[in-house]
Amino acid sequence: MLREAIDWLVTPSLPFARRSGHLSEFVAIAARRRRHRAAWAPHEARSRAAVLRAAMTVDPDGTAIILGAGHLYDVPLAELAARFRRVELVDLAFSAATRRAARRLGNVTCIRHDVTESLPELPRVAAPGFLLDRPDLRFVASVNLLSQLAVVATRELEDDAADRLGRALVEAHLDWLGRLPCPAALVCDRAIEIVGPGGEIVASLDPLKGAAAPAADETWTWDLAPRGEVDRVHSVRHVVGATDRS
Ligand SMILES: C[S@@+](CC[C@H](N)C(=O)[O-])C[C@H]1O[C@@H](n2cnc3c(N)ncnc32)[C@H](O)[C@@H]1O
Repeated sequence: MLREAIDWLVTPSLPFARRSGHLSEFVAIAARRRRHRAAWAPHEARSRAAVLRAAMTVDPDGTAIILGAGHLYDVPLAELAARFRRVELVDLAFSAATRRAARRLGNVTCIRHDVTESLPELPRVAAPGFLLDRPDLRFVASVNLLSQLAVVATRELEDDAADRLGRALVEAHLDWLGRLPCPAALVCDRAIEIVGPGGEIVASLDPLKGAAAPAADETWTWDLAPRGEVDRVHSVRHVVGATDRS
């Protein structure tokens, strides 16, 4: 708890993210990852490999953008920085380790930006205009971000309103990826499975709230919350899909 409080205080972020709970969620992700580093490692490796595979299919003579790169757990940054002229990381906040890695590599910039361009004005969901006018773009990847767009924003809402808003945010992000002036890769949760003590799936939830994601080129399981994290009986795992060009 003390570590989280300090991280919250020292991590630079967009001002609204500090008030809204987004920065607390950002810090909480790091704490969960410290508790479950080994369980998360296969998912992070698969995510990095999927981003790199998609990045290898595009012209590297320009800029690559990684959306949701705040902690860099699932981003092959060194490889991307070696391949592209420039790499821009986009998130509401960046950990100290991410900022250090960017400085070290020299051609990497951290950009604090709300990719929904909606958060302070919700429930109005905007069509983002970010990056649409960038002729230097060669590659964009949205990495384990899509289902997170609604997590904090819908926390206080009734179920129906939360699902409607969550779906609108997800659809606006997918639509925006499709309008970018370069190929966009997508790594995102496709299902949330609650697993009982015998390994049986006791509930399956849709993290995209009914929005249709593009077909996945590859899927895998992320052991997000091994038994003991949520309660002593259940574990939670996510089915993750990677789409090379969304
Ligand atoms: C589950 S984490 C993904 C892990 C992340 N790819 C990494 O670098 O380790 C989701 C990330 O999305 C970011 N995020 C959530 N909503 C966002 C928004 N509206 N705009 C930009 N980033 C956002 C969070 O701050 C967080 O870093």
